[in-house]
Amino acid sequence: MGFYLTTAIDYVNSRPHLGTAYEKVTADVIARYRRLCGTPTWFVMGNDEHSQNVYQRAKELGLEPIAFCDEMEQVFREAWAKLDISFDDFIRTTEDRHRVAVTTLVQRIADAGDLYEGEYEGWYCVSCEAFKQDKDLVDGCCPVHPTKKPDWIKEKNHFFRLSRYRDPLLAHYQAHPEFLQPDVRRNEMLKLLEGGLEDISISRTGQSWGIPLPFDPSSVVYVWFDALINYIAAVGYGTDDALFERWWPAQLHVVGKDITRFHTVVWPAMLMSAGVALPTQVFGHGWVHWQGQKMSKSLGTSVDPLEAADRLGPDPLRLYLAKEIAFGQDGDFTWERFEEQYNVDLANNLGNLVNRVAVMAHKYRGGQLRAPASVPSVLEARATDVVTRYRAAMDEHRLHTGLAAAFELVDATNEYITRSEPWALAKDPGQADALDRVLFDAAEAVRVAGILLWPAMPSSATEILRRMGEQEGLTELSTQAAWTSRPRALIKGPPLWPRIEHTDTEADASAARGKAASKRAETKMTNESDAPASPAPAVDTPTPAEPPATEAAAAPAVEEMPRVSFDDFLKVELRVARVTAAEAIPKSKKLLKVTVEVAGVERTLVAGIARAYEPETLVGRSVVIVANLEKAKLMGVESNGMMLAATDPAGNPVLLTVDDPEAAPSGARVR
Ligand code: MSP
Repeated sequence: MGFYLTTAIDYVNSRPHLGTAYEKVTADVIARYRRLCGTPTWFVMGNDEHSQNVYQRAKELGLEPIAFCDEMEQVFREAWAKLDISFDDFIRTTEDRHRVAVTTLVQRIADAGDLYEGEYEGWYCVSCEAFKQDKDLVDGCCPVHPTKKPDWIKEKNHFFRLSRYRDPLLAHYQAHPEFLQPDVRRNEMLKLLEGGLEDISISRTGQSWGIPLPFDPSSVVYVWFDALINYIAAVGYGTDDALFERWWPAQLHVVGKDITRFHTVVWPAMLMSAGVALPTQVFGHGWVHWQGQKMSKSLGTSVDPLEAADRLGPDPLRLYLAKEIAFGQDGDFTWERFEEQYNVDLANNLGNLVNRVAVMAHKYRGGQLRAPASVPSVLEARATDVVTRYRAAMDEHRLHTGLAAAFELVDATNEYITRSEPWALAKDPGQADALDRVLFDAAEAVRVAGILLWPAMPSSATEILRRMGEQEGLTELSTQAAWTSRPRALIKGPPLWPRIEHTDTEADASAARGKAASKRAETKMTNESDAPASPAPAVDTPTPAEPPATEAAAAPAVEEMPRVSFDDFLKVELRVARVTAAEAIPKSKKLLKVTVEVAGVERTLVAGIARAYEPETLVGRSVVIVANLEKAKLMGVESNGMMLAATDPAGNPVLLTVDDPEAAPSGARVR
């Protein structure tokens, strides 16, 4: 049996934003997971074009609506390509196959006696493209679009006898608790159904933009009635019977919680009326919030998904959306949290692990790993348990739980390496088998984690598998995620996710963009703004005996960096300074307020070194500062200059201090 899944189709009056992208990414994770399970999968997305907003936007731009929609199709396709969304088909509601499906289905509903003519008088929210009742409004406005006043309309309409389907719908809900998930949405809809249903208008008069009703060409089909039909149009309803037979009913419609009513009341009633099978499940996901509000173009609260993908990469963005927001609930996006997750999960944790495993395999075994029969595996049971829990979660669309399970394996592997100290085993020839086991298990666990992470991070996981010597490419989860003892040859490579520095506030985000593009420099200035973050995991802290990820620290290709002239370098005034006082900055995990004396003059700096240094240990040290940097305010404290520090492999700052402070006292120039 196949798995046909869809997302909502997007209005094209504006570009995709991170909220609409969230839905496509999460649906893509589900589609990829199903394919990985070996299930024939058909994943459809598309554009909803017959909206008044689309029509108005085209007119504002002086374009024919269809020409505007053609342009927007490219905009949407480019965005989805950038985010690696692997849809199998993309439908537009202005396509002929869609028009045929709409005309056919509407006619069948009419033939069933479920349409009648009447007059609609009431509110209409153009942003939602939805008729509203007084009880739906808050302070006279639609709650989803509180800045827009709905229109009062009075027109001749055709109505659908939705009320007739209340009992059949309730019966369907009872018989198929899986029909609407998560449960919180199901309960909302049950309540609504129990309250009774009113018939709904399904046509608009006086509009040219839309699909004419087959029996009344002076009216067009109401945009929602039209749009829902895309799900059957895309698989050949009315145009390709064999295709329709192959894929319908859909297993899953992934839609936002604001439009679950259309999908779980109106849509199944339309299908029941026309005698078409119902989809198996509708999943109503939550909203991505930005600064406390639903991310939305019309509310002016949106983030460009392309900018977010450019900043740290499409895979880190996909991981953030699928793992940090519990699927089904609302969740926040902030640049700080995005960067934090990148640093913690990817730079420090997974990236460091991939690197240290490959580096050690090459250092101790020339890259060739084998599982010694004489030493039992420690990680196998853990990996097997993780795979079981991952599958159980992913089967129920608990994407965040599934991905968190994959990261448990990453953590367990890092801990295992730290505990078993392969660098110490390597010094004792009697421990050769034990060392083989540690190296093999670590590589095997990373391989398994790579497979589990593939649906969320397809490019990165493919690269991880290559480095771990996975010859087969991706095949099937049940066999491939099973623990093996096959010898393998590991491949080294540059760090997958160089650690980046944090930005202080949302407003600083764009300033940080350039910084992120060059990812990071070897030596960093320490009055970077604050991290909201948790510290780097202890497992990644390299031991002095064996810095496991030395290659990770050597990230940027120094030789390839753009050169600055000597004159430009001289513009930076580097001076020796003596620390006279230091204190924590309240509410900041990363920043310290440091007082230094430079040639007899005191000044205050804010330094992002709190994770690595207790304030009192700084007093008396001779450090190097950039003395002529523009002043900046960080966490309310003015910073007059910047202390220099190197970055260790785990991303922690290491202060640059002066070897002989008597020879180079405070104020001495540094060149
Ligand atoms: N065109 C209709 C859907 C028709 S489906 C037959 C529509 N379009 S939309 O462009 O407004 O929204 C597309 C999808 O994105 C919807 O599922 C909507 O819920 C979702 N989201 C829009 N903003 C969102 C967030 N801020 N967060 C998560 N999903 C969001 O509705």
